[in-house]
Amino acid sequence: MPKTILPPECYTQDKWLEFEHKHIFKKLWLLACLTQQLRNENDFATCDLAGVPIFLQNLEGKIKAFRNSCPHKGMPIQTELCGNRKALCPYHGWSFDCNGKVRGIPNAGLYQFSSEEKESLGLEEYPVAILGNFIFINFEKDPPHIEDQFNASLIRILKDASNHFSSEISYTTFECDYNWKLNFENVTDFNHIKFVHPKSFAPLIDFAKDGAYSETFKNTSKIFDEKFSTGEEIRQSSPRVSTKDISFWGRAPLPYKERWYSKFLDACDIGGHFACHIFPNVNFGSIHGENFFLQQFNPITPGRFLYRSWVFTSKTRDAKSLPHLLWGIHHAEKRVIDEDRVLLAKLQKSLSSGERVGYVGNHEHPLISIGKWYMEKYNDSLEIPH
Ligand code: FES
Ligand SMILES: [Fe+2]
Repeated sequence: MPKTILPPECYTQDKWLEFEHKHIFKKLWLLACLTQQLRNENDFATCDLAGVPIFLQNLEGKIKAFRNSCPHKGMPIQTELCGNRKALCPYHGWSFDCNGKVRGIPNAGLYQFSSEEKESLGLEEYPVAILGNFIFINFEKDPPHIEDQFNASLIRILKDASNHFSSEISYTTFECDYNWKLNFENVTDFNHIKFVHPKSFAPLIDFAKDGAYSETFKNTSKIFDEKFSTGEEIRQSSPRVSTKDISFWGRAPLPYKERWYSKFLDACDIGGHFACHIFPNVNFGSIHGENFFLQQFNPITPGRFLYRSWVFTSKTRDAKSLPHLLWGIHHAEKRVIDEDRVLLAKLQKSLSSGERVGYVGNHEHPLISIGKWYMEKYNDSLEIPH
């Protein structure tokens, strides 16, 4: 039985989080938000990624991403989680164009900028890539193609699923008292569901006696074939794990039960429950293509992360607006998340006080590849002169 690869310190120590920010988060494409949040001119969304404050905004029809820090004195340009407002600093009113250049400086005479100085003033911009409705950013000046980070089947699912998204979302954030990686590992481990979520989540899934997924479940998915899989097989033969191999998807047998709101929705895949584990810190999936969940785990300290949670439905029939339904679904999902959250905070405490013991089950085999990839990056980082 394979053992956990990651050392216990990487869940508890600052130096490991510094490594993760510098050599993982600042190198990979990271989810920033959804296109539903930036539909109209001047719609914006803010977030912190890799410890960097970001705002994304629809400017002249383009989705742009900038460091949320004014070149004058560092004030955030957008101070709310999301909204609709011009790219204008709230402190002294400097305004910015769609390329982040300073457009206007009220009372400019006070600053005595030469025209060259004014020309050089601007926001730090980051590259953006969009897959379906998913907006990613990268901190590299010249980043690799996003297709080099994710395998083709994962990209297909993100794009295909996006075709079914309703335009309305429910979005919230909250903090959790444990390492972000514990959450990524937890959402890949279906064997905890019966024990941690016996009343909330477990009754939905068709488990066999030995804890595996039931083989007798009749698949009625339109998108996926019969086989329940934990995603593409990892290429074991390659000497180094490819970045494409550490983001993956899986399915679970989830018998379809019509719910009171099913009649309002155009479900895209009755019979299907899928989850995409998008390294480093995103979990996206759907229950029957009727409702979708998107979750991101952004580290703040080794023992704390910000949980970003989006919930939305498939397209509604007759374009109905269903805010109460979204609220209800999100509330139910938060109940499940809280069951994990309470327990994983206790696990974090035990990691801080002792050795980590760990075994990885067959159902979590991608974690072995992720562990190898992570340690390769760590060892590479030790060879780079600081
Ligand atoms: S800090 Fe932004 S205009 Fe002064
Ligand atoms: Fe859970």
